[in-house]
Amino acid sequence: KGKLKTQWVCNNCGHTTGQWWGTCPSCASAGTMEEFHESKLAHDNGVKSKGGLAISEESMGLWLPQRSRDLRPVKLDEVNRGFDLHQWRIPLHGAFGNEVSSVLGGGLVPGSLTLVGGDPGIGKSTLLLQIAAMIATEGNGGKAPSVVYVSGEESLEQIGTRADRLAIKSNIYLYSSTDIEDILEKAHSVSPRVLVVDSIQTVYLKAIAGSAGGITQVKECTTALMRFAKTTNISVLLVGHVNKSGEIAGPRVLEHIVDVVLYMEGERHSPYRMLRAVKNRFGSTDELGVFEMSQSGLQAVSNASEMFLTEQYSDSNVLAGLAIAVIMDGSRTFLIEIQALCLSNSPVSASSSAGLVNGITATKANMIKCVLIKQAGLHLQENAVFLNVVNGLTITETAGDLAIAAAICSSFLEFPIPKGIAFIGEIGLGGELHMVPRIDKRIYTLAKLGYRMCVVPKQAEKGLEAEGLAEMKIVGCRNLKEVIDAVF
Ligand code: TYD
Ligand code: MG
Repeated sequence: KGKLKTQWVCNNCGHTTGQWWGTCPSCASAGTMEEFHESKLAHDNGVKSKGGLAISEESMGLWLPQRSRDLRPVKLDEVNRGFDLHQWRIPLHGAFGNEVSSVLGGGLVPGSLTLVGGDPGIGKSTLLLQIAAMIATEGNGGKAPSVVYVSGEESLEQIGTRADRLAIKSNIYLYSSTDIEDILEKAHSVSPRVLVVDSIQTVYLKAIAGSAGGITQVKECTTALMRFAKTTNISVLLVGHVNKSGEIAGPRVLEHIVDVVLYMEGERHSPYRMLRAVKNRFGSTDELGVFEMSQSGLQAVSNASEMFLTEQYSDSNVLAGLAIAVIMDGSRTFLIEIQALCLSNSPVSASSSAGLVNGITATKANMIKCVLIKQAGLHLQENAVFLNVVNGLTITETAGDLAIAAAICSSFLEFPIPKGIAFIGEIGLGGELHMVPRIDKRIYTLAKLGYRMCVVPKQAEKGLEAEGLAEMKIVGCRNLKEVIDAVF
């Protein structure tokens, strides 16, 4: 009793096994398996089990795992084809126009399970309450409520206060609970079109051991919600917090189970929020929604270039030593500001970058500094080069090389890089620029955010004549010398 069960979970793909692997058996990433301890399943802790099932039957709701004898294979022609997904999608219009709809691929699909992930405090509850309001406005043919919004995180009063702040008056039904069986039962009894559950980390299944938020609970609850969505045709929107510390008892593990995964991103001190689908069984994952968090909730940013101009400093007083990199994390794109400071006669040693860099490895910093000296003719020898990645991020991707080099050049030459220019590319020891993966996706994000110019490796130029980039100047360069000629 009280013995712990050890599980190994890949922090890249969420694959779970009972033993350690050097390389994940599912996604083949190396060194990603992390150990988790969980108390054993319920039947080991005294709950009666029948016929080898871990969960007692009486405690199971309609949507919980069922005995396989209830199911039988069905002939292909007997299968109910249902309806055309596109015609039946629930449209979402409102304060943020079509942003959410288009990220979802044209509206919410009935009977789908959508996970909305993001850092705590990013605005997930706000987004979902606003979505709920839109659906409630659409109505549900008169009788039944359109939306049931269940929160395990906040009291009904708190949600009410937020609704006031968002000026929401629609008929949303609120419920506060963390017991998933109770939630599904209550939701089913009123038959809404959409059920919102905030958040997966707070709900639990009585029959499963382990506290709410643990891997087993999170997986089982999501599976129950999926079953509920599929059997009732009610769409479920589920909130999942992402943990900065790499804790994976969250969205990563769930990505396989659910139909759609949306991530909400944004800088802590910036009002802008991005919403992106990283998985969508009913549409593409290329759409990016951009919002602004205002006093009265999220609003669509219709003109992205305007949004870019509202930043704190204007073109006239940009500092030297700043450059923008475009980094991808999984399928998420981040614009990252890199700061460089070149200091001659520095009190700190100029011979090594150790201790002078933050968010970039010293090896990378040294390499780029040396390449700039040798291949681009910059007289950096006597300079200590300090590098900093804003907001405490760490760049592991080589796609950031060019922006690092550009920031160093900008500081050394005391030439501020004008706003609206970004750099993408890997640097080789010869000073040459190399291609990086998914450069089109990165540039699409830049274009959407109102950037005017992007410096890329020469090879990338060809494939980039896509639509939507008309406003964007793509500058292809073979090596660092060409970059310096083009920008400085
Ligand atoms: P919230 O939706 O609670 O985040 P999450 O559910 O992802 O944890 O939003 C958190 C932040 O949003 C909070 O710091 C306050 C801010 N906010 C606004 O700026 N305007 C608003 O209208 C609302 C409701 C919240
Ligand atoms: Mg919340």
